[in-house]
Amino acid sequence: MNLLEVISRGPHQTRDLGRRIGELAQAGDVILLVGALGVGKTCLTQGIAEGLGVTEYTASPSFVLVREYQGRFPLFHVDLYRLTNLTEIADLGLDDYFQGKGMTVVEWADRAMDLLPAEHLLIDMSYISPARRRLSFEPRGERYEQVVCELRRELVGG
Ligand SMILES: Nc1ncnc2c1ncn2[C@@H]1O[C@H](COP(=O)(O)OP(=O)(O)OP(=O)(O)O)[C@@H](O)[C@H]1O
Ligand SMILES: [Mg+2]
Repeated sequence: MNLLEVISRGPHQTRDLGRRIGELAQAGDVILLVGALGVGKTCLTQGIAEGLGVTEYTASPSFVLVREYQGRFPLFHVDLYRLTNLTEIADLGLDDYFQGKGMTVVEWADRAMDLLPAEHLLIDMSYISPARRRLSFEPRGERYEQVVCELRRELVGG
C-alpha cells in the first residue's frame, strides 16, 4: 500500500494540504478523517472546501451532523463527533451522499467505519506539538492510490 506521511507545521500548512486535496477531488470521492479532539480535522476540511471552490463556509450549529457546501460540485461535510448511536447513521441517509454527485468528508469516521464506503482515502491525524501534526494518508482503492501518488509527487517529489 502506498502510505504517505506528512508533517504539518501549523494550521496554514494543514489548510494548504486540504486545498490540494480539494483541487484534485472528483465527484464521488470519500475522505475519512480520524484523530483526537482538536487535532485539525476541521482545519483540513476547510482547506478541502477552499480547493473545491467553496466560497461560503458558514458556521452552522454544532449539533448539525451533515453540512452541504457548493463548490465545483457539492461538498458534504459529515461530523460524527456527536453520534451517540450507530442507528442514527441510518437516519442521516449517508448513502445518498456517497452516490457520486459530490464529495464527502467525514470527521470522526472511526465512530462508524463499518458503515462507511470501503473505498476511501483515510487520513489519520496525530498531535506532535502545539503547532505540529502528523498526517498519515492511507488510500483504500485505486482512485485514492492515484490521489496519494499525486500528493506524494507534489510534496516530496518522485
Ligand atoms: N499543524 C496544525 N494543523 C492544524 N491545526 C493546528 C495545527 N497547529 C495548531 N493547530 C490548531 O489546532 C486546532 C485544530 O482545530 P480543529 O477544529 O481543526 O480540530 P478538529 O480535529 O476538527 O477538532 P474536533 O475533534 O473538535 O472536531 C486549531 O485551533 C488550530 O489552529
Ligand atoms: Mg472538527
